[in-house]
Amino acid sequence: MPAIVILGAQWGDEGKGKATDLLATQHESGADSIDFVVRTSGGHNAGHTIVVDGEKFATHLLPSGILTPGTTSVIGNGVVISPEALFRELDELAARGVDVSRLVVSANAHIIASYHSTIDKVTERFLGKNRIGTTGRGIGPAYADKINRIGIRVADLFDESILTQKVEGSLDVKNQLLAKAYNRRAVAVDAVVEELLSYAERLRPMVADTALLLNRALDEGKTVLFEGAQATMLDVDHGTYPFVTSSNAVAGGVCTGAGIGPTRIDRVIGVIKAYTTRVGSGPFPTELFDEDGEKLWKVGGEVGVSTGRDRRCGWYDAVIARYASRVNGLTDLFLTKLDVLSSWERVPVCVAYDINGVRHDEMPMTQSEFHHAKPVYEFLDGWWEDISGCRTFADLPKNAQAYVEALEEMSGTRIWGVGVGPGREQTLVVHE
Ligand code: GDP
Ligand code: IMO
Ligand code: MG
Repeated sequence: MPAIVILGAQWGDEGKGKATDLLATQHESGADSIDFVVRTSGGHNAGHTIVVDGEKFATHLLPSGILTPGTTSVIGNGVVISPEALFRELDELAARGVDVSRLVVSANAHIIASYHSTIDKVTERFLGKNRIGTTGRGIGPAYADKINRIGIRVADLFDESILTQKVEGSLDVKNQLLAKAYNRRAVAVDAVVEELLSYAERLRPMVADTALLLNRALDEGKTVLFEGAQATMLDVDHGTYPFVTSSNAVAGGVCTGAGIGPTRIDRVIGVIKAYTTRVGSGPFPTELFDEDGEKLWKVGGEVGVSTGRDRRCGWYDAVIARYASRVNGLTDLFLTKLDVLSSWERVPVCVAYDINGVRHDEMPMTQSEFHHAKPVYEFLDGWWEDISGCRTFADLPKNAQAYVEALEEMSGTRIWGVGVGPGREQTLVVHE
């Protein structure tokens, strides 16, 4: 199974870090060991939690494979890199005894400079109640520069003259905007160049043609795991635009963000929570504003790993699951946090939307319709038992088994595994 994609099927924070770590370590010593774990989109807006022997780690820009000995971590060309955030994260993990020497960074990945996060924050402030609720990490402005063809790439850090020209080009209009529209001080080109150059020597040995590296690895039969960041509903094309991130978080983004062809991909796993959460603004049909929402938030510990913001909580949405299956060509779902649903008499699951009196079984065509979507619920019988100690599907209470089977049926994709706790071992395999 050489190329496996793991991605988010909802609005992020589904447990992609846990799923990546699980696959990477499951295969650790076998003939089918995972050789590479690759990030292909987003940046340090991501926050992936991995719990190993009760010890908690969080990765942001680094692939979660960094925690698996013997695995090479790759940051692909589609990622936007803040060198400051990259080295902070490497240093933090190294200080905790993690071997961070096996990291390879694409020469073509774009750089997030400090002015990108300044612009991210001032833009959000100016949007007022229409703000996206970004992480403020400069992700959108860095991708905007990439598409505008005024971005700075990793390779540019190794030539001072080119870097200076590019920073000048990038700041030209931005400084006008900062000073005249946002009433901010203009950013000095020299200071930015100096800061970026200060990272160059440390970065240089990590930089490679990662597309060539990964294609050769696949030619040799090595196994490559592509670790998604953000999620389908945050994808700039397929998500709830404009309340999205600025990259392609769907499976297609893996091809452009790594430089591999679609025919290379063998398996696409969508990670999905047994309920739904979202951080930031934007529509969310099954969102709860009552004590059930409060209970999901509390029992699920639904606080963001990157920004510490509370996550909005709601019931499982099978319309979204079907949509994610379709736009990503999912082969499997990995259902997380089933343990959080213990102790409800009945668990509602959204099976369709009522939009202005019309039933929609699939995602409506337009965002305006989606903004008016009211969930149509089916009610499944709940269970009271603590299931965090279950290790096989048969260990689950009958109603929890029925819940998983109903979700599989409604979502149109087989559920490969179920998470019953944050730990690596707290996982049940439903289908091998
Ligand atoms: P990611 O961004 O998709 O990697 O997910 P996050 O790490 O941001 O958020 C998922 C949270 O759920 C983390 O705190 C995980 O430790 C935790 N988690 C993952 N799977 C499970 C599970 O099956 N049960 C419980 N209770 N927690 C889980
Ligand atoms: P992981 O990989 C949840 C959300 C932000 C905001 C929107 C745009 O941990 O699942 P951005 O800073 O990207 O321009 O913000 O996207 N967002 C996430 N929400 N999990 C994430 O990553 C997210 N990355 C971005 O909250 O609504
Ligand atoms: Mg997260």
